[in-house]
Amino acid sequence: MHAITIDQPGGPEVLVWAEVPDAVAGPGEVLVDVAAGAVNRADTLQRQGHYDPPPGASQILGMECSGTVAALGEGVSGWSVGDEVCALLSGGGYAELVAVPTGQLLPVPAGVGLVEAAALPEVACTVHAAIVMACHLEAGELLLVHGGGSGIGTFAIQYATALGARVAVTAGSAEKLEACRKLGADVLINYREQDFVAAVREASGGHGADVVLDNMGASYLGRNVDVLATEGRLFVLGMQGGRKAELDLGQLLVKRASVAAASLRARPPAEKAAIVAEVRAQVWPLLADRTILPVVDRRVPMAEAADAHRLMESSGHVGKILLAR
Ligand SMILES: NC(=O)c1ccc[n+]([C@@H]2O[C@H](COP(=O)([O-])OP(=O)(O)OC[C@H]3O[C@@H](n4cnc5c(N)ncnc54)[C@H](OP(=O)(O)O)[C@@H]3O)[C@@H](O)[C@H]2O)c1
Repeated sequence: MHAITIDQPGGPEVLVWAEVPDAVAGPGEVLVDVAAGAVNRADTLQRQGHYDPPPGASQILGMECSGTVAALGEGVSGWSVGDEVCALLSGGGYAELVAVPTGQLLPVPAGVGLVEAAALPEVACTVHAAIVMACHLEAGELLLVHGGGSGIGTFAIQYATALGARVAVTAGSAEKLEACRKLGADVLINYREQDFVAAVREASGGHGADVVLDNMGASYLGRNVDVLATEGRLFVLGMQGGRKAELDLGQLLVKRASVAAASLRARPPAEKAAIVAEVRAQVWPLLADRTILPVVDRRVPMAEAADAHRLMESSGHVGKILLAR
């Protein structure tokens, strides 16, 4: 098969489409003939040598894909050759073939194309695990999503709106804020021009954010705790602004607030399977009835993954960048 390979960590130019040994489905896995993969921010870190895949995972980049089941490993039931699927991966998605544990497979949602389905597994599983399973976001609450124009952000806005929450977003341009508004966000904050703490307080009559979904980490920690409402929950997904910062426990005590962080990729397979099962039951119907739409910035040929990484690193996109075969 062909896959994107990396000889030495480095810039986007190290991503080379080359022939590698075929992926093979082990026991409890299916082999997927990949129609498309998608780029995640973490892929750019892995390419630079700053983010190793979990033990036992493929060294090939790619944390999600869509495609057609090409073969079944030993002991697999419930899936057939020819099924159209998408999958949450621990690695291996930038390739023509990938082996996937059945617990991480999802059918392509009704009404979604095979290629665009590659935009869904990582954002749906990450956002559901964070705002529903961990933070218990409720109808009527206010969710603040940092980086509203990101792959994660564009999904979170739609999902939280569908759950009956009100959504505030930060983004770095008027164009991205407008895209967020169209997806359902109603408090729009340009982080280059406005202080998000003051803007959220003003928009919520002083209440603050009940849940914050954060991609920045250290550089936003203080202000994220500041913006939390009483009994607010801060969930840190990314560390684009660094990993170490001071936490004011006094503020958490007074607010009875909490701070959590998690990486989906590092979770054991059984936990991933539990998240995937919830996503299939609770999120897939919202895609099938078009309450939530995949947000795809563009499709780039998989062999040109270097261009897709350049685009992501310039933040010139809204939503997901797909790598189509
Ligand atoms: N923990 C997990 O399991 C998990 C899973 C998936 C993703 N993630 C994390 O979630 C984040 C989004 O991932 P993605 O793949 O969707 O990436 P992405 O599409 O590249 O989004 C990154 C976003 O960060 C925004 N940004 C940059 N500086 C900002 C700032 N100061 N304030 C607010 N936003 C800022 C950029 O938008 P602007 O143009 O507006 O600056 C861009 O939209 C990443 O940090 C990623 O590592 C975590």
